[in-house]
Amino acid sequence: MPARPAGALVLFGITGDLAKKLVLPALYRLEERGDLDQPIIGVARSDWHQDDLVRHAREAVEDALGKPKAEVFSRLADRLSYVQGEYDDSRTFDRVKQRVGPRASSAVYYLAVPPPVFAVVAEALAREGLNKQSRLVVEKPFGHDLSSAKALDQKLRQFFPEERLFRVDHFLGKESVEDLLVFRFANGLFEQVWNRDHVQSVQLTFAENLDVADRGGFYDPVGAIRDVVQNHLFQVLAYLAMDSPSGSDPEAEQRERTRLLRAVRTLSKRNVVRGQYDGYRKVEGVKANSTTETYVAMRMAIDNARWEGVPFYVRTGKCLPETILQAVVELKPAPRLPQLERHNSVAPNLIRLRMQPSAGITLDIQAKEPGPGYRAKTVPLSVDFERTLGPTQLAYERVVSDALSGSRIHFTSQEAVEQSWRIVDPVLDLPDLPVSYKPGTWGPEQAERLPGREGWIRVDTDI
Ligand code: BG6
Repeated sequence: MPARPAGALVLFGITGDLAKKLVLPALYRLEERGDLDQPIIGVARSDWHQDDLVRHAREAVEDALGKPKAEVFSRLADRLSYVQGEYDDSRTFDRVKQRVGPRASSAVYYLAVPPPVFAVVAEALAREGLNKQSRLVVEKPFGHDLSSAKALDQKLRQFFPEERLFRVDHFLGKESVEDLLVFRFANGLFEQVWNRDHVQSVQLTFAENLDVADRGGFYDPVGAIRDVVQNHLFQVLAYLAMDSPSGSDPEAEQRERTRLLRAVRTLSKRNVVRGQYDGYRKVEGVKANSTTETYVAMRMAIDNARWEGVPFYVRTGKCLPETILQAVVELKPAPRLPQLERHNSVAPNLIRLRMQPSAGITLDIQAKEPGPGYRAKTVPLSVDFERTLGPTQLAYERVVSDALSGSRIHFTSQEAVEQSWRIVDPVLDLPDLPVSYKPGTWGPEQAERLPGREGWIRVDTDI
């Protein structure tokens, strides 16, 4: 049965950081495109009035996107209203019910609140009968490990069935991540080499040059593995390595991603290097003797026929020299051409798939160096997708729009969540100290050698 478009959007935590930085700017974009036609009811604890909410929304849009267009913003502001209340107080939900009125059954309840509040709100919605046909949107983290993820799911599922539970992993909303699928399967040239016969190794780097700034209190009990690897990077890994979906429906894509995650080997300590940047322990909210990793590099394996024997290296960290999300697929070397000069070592072909900051691809190919003899030299073939094809939508724009229309394509499933926890479970909360590294470097030296003597393939920052 096709999903019903949302009759109302109820945004819990509208005064918070997530709503401000990501959801409200996304709503502005949807308004600009003419894709919103429902009231937006913000719920939070602050004692705010309509004016405060509108000011907050304007600031949110300005900070994220620059000065809003007056007529677009005024349409958005007209949709906004505010319900004040505690999340554990039934009167709050009474007020929400009144405000949503007859639209209650087709409403989308978006929980931009801390995870401990998810089940509290879900239960309170159910008590008011607001869970009948509505959708519940929740944001990662989904649990703290495998068992807490299962426990959270059990609680939420008492009130909302799987098909009406929308779990946000905003990397699934990034067009540049989805593009991996198009690049791989719409180009016969690449589709044919995407396997163990032709691929030597795959390296995935998600580097951020920011520190944890004012998020110490959130970050310290979490660390890099929980914050971005278990969710975002495993989704990227799934797109990089999955088989082609067996149908055009969103479930087919989700199923295939999950099937890939099922084949990823559970990590062991010897394949992981954790790091912590110097100065991290001085950040407000971070324990003075914290063993939390702000960097991690891991050697991974996928146990299926396509990838047997191909190492997948994944690394991420805060305070690194760049902010970039890039996968590098290294192809196996071609047989040596007898004409080449003896000492001319030929580099492998590399396929660099850049997803952030702007999407694009660079292929490192070999060409004859001008001159008398035969010498092969690496030259890049590059394309920047935004320059060539135009701008893409924001990840949250797509996530919020899908939640409103009821499409599950950019959301993750409970099984994918559990598989991802299963993969990282043995390397969570390791008692040993992470290796320290200097801010502005590529992480600890031990991690540099994880992919072998040659180290990591340099990420390509200018396509
Ligand atoms: C969030 C993490 O989920 O994703 C942050 O909590 C991280 O630590 C962020 O910086 C990265 O997302 P994006 O879209 O800014 O690359």
